[in-house]
Amino acid sequence: MQSPGEGEVLVRSTYLSLDPTNRVWMNGADSYLPALAIGDAMRGVAIGVVEESRDAGFATGDLVQGLLGWQQYSVSPGAALNKLPKGLPVPMTAFFGLLGHIGLTAYFGLLDICEPKPGETLVVSTAAGAVGSLVGQIGKIKGCRVVGLTGSDEKCAWIKELGFEAAINYKTENVSESLQRHCPKGVDIYFDNVGGGILEAVLNLINLRARISVCGMISQYNADQPAPGPKNLANLISKRARMEGFLCTDYSNRAQEAFTEMIGWLMQGKLKYRVDVVEGLENAPRALKKLFDGSNSGKLIVQVGAE
Ligand SMILES: NC(=O)c1ccc[n+]([C@@H]2O[C@H](COP(=O)([O-])OP(=O)(O)OC[C@H]3O[C@@H](n4cnc5c(N)ncnc54)[C@H](OP(=O)(O)O)[C@@H]3O)[C@@H](O)[C@H]2O)c1
Repeated sequence: MQSPGEGEVLVRSTYLSLDPTNRVWMNGADSYLPALAIGDAMRGVAIGVVEESRDAGFATGDLVQGLLGWQQYSVSPGAALNKLPKGLPVPMTAFFGLLGHIGLTAYFGLLDICEPKPGETLVVSTAAGAVGSLVGQIGKIKGCRVVGLTGSDEKCAWIKELGFEAAINYKTENVSESLQRHCPKGVDIYFDNVGGGILEAVLNLINLRARISVCGMISQYNADQPAPGPKNLANLISKRARMEGFLCTDYSNRAQEAFTEMIGWLMQGKLKYRVDVVEGLENAPRALKKLFDGSNSGKLIVQVGAE
């Protein structure tokens, strides 16, 4: 096992977050991070315990989070790790969801980019997933009428339980017709996690000054050819609407603001989340496919070792 050098920390991973972006990093092209090469360890956000530290900011036994690898032990610069608080009334896995990058994505991707107002219609895709389910619930807290799209009747039933006004099964329904039926006053906000045909269908219904948060394009991550763009982007002109992309890391310096508010909502029973924990690092590659066939229910996590 590698030993930490000066300023470095040896971490034993307990949990690993599996994210759609793992697939993006395998495409062989640089994105917001350099492409991974064949033979590299897959990157992953991990939570772990400090086994040995040569950084004065960390001690053996500290709980930490960082962009480590799909591996049991990692050596990381201390400066690239966050120390996690102990004793919060949430399971450790919440540091990937509500209190982690997923929480930042949902909170700022909706509130900062779209500035929702009471009475507005919010549409969200991958609505039963880690990001989407939080976005819809935050939209409800802000007084929006929330319509979610997801890929199974069970997921539709769950988001209705969360308080969404309507749920559309995009695999079995005609998306355009269902959106028109459930958004009789048009769409003020679209939180886009998928791109493709669903984006095009929503663009046909946008209202004046609509806001579209471009969070993800999961329908295109496995495409081997560039996907055609929506045919109706010109609607943005006539509706004076805005589409804006973002990365959750843009908001790292405002994380406390989001986490404080979201933990309050969690304690008040206004936010719920599900986690889907797969046992064993050796199962990570197979588990990643769940994000693309929709068989994950909630934030997808691999348990690498004991807490
Ligand atoms: N911008 C950022 O910083 C940022 C950060 C985190 C995540 N994201 C993005 O947020 C989105 C959701 O990520 P997540 O981690 O919360 O995953 P997730 O929603 O928990 O899981 C992915 C879900 O995507 C849906 N899906 C897969 N292929 C699809 C397709 N072709 N068309 C429509 N839906 C499809 C499946 O749900 P169904 O059963 O509903 O099909 C699947 O369960 C992704 O696009 C991801 O890249 C962006």
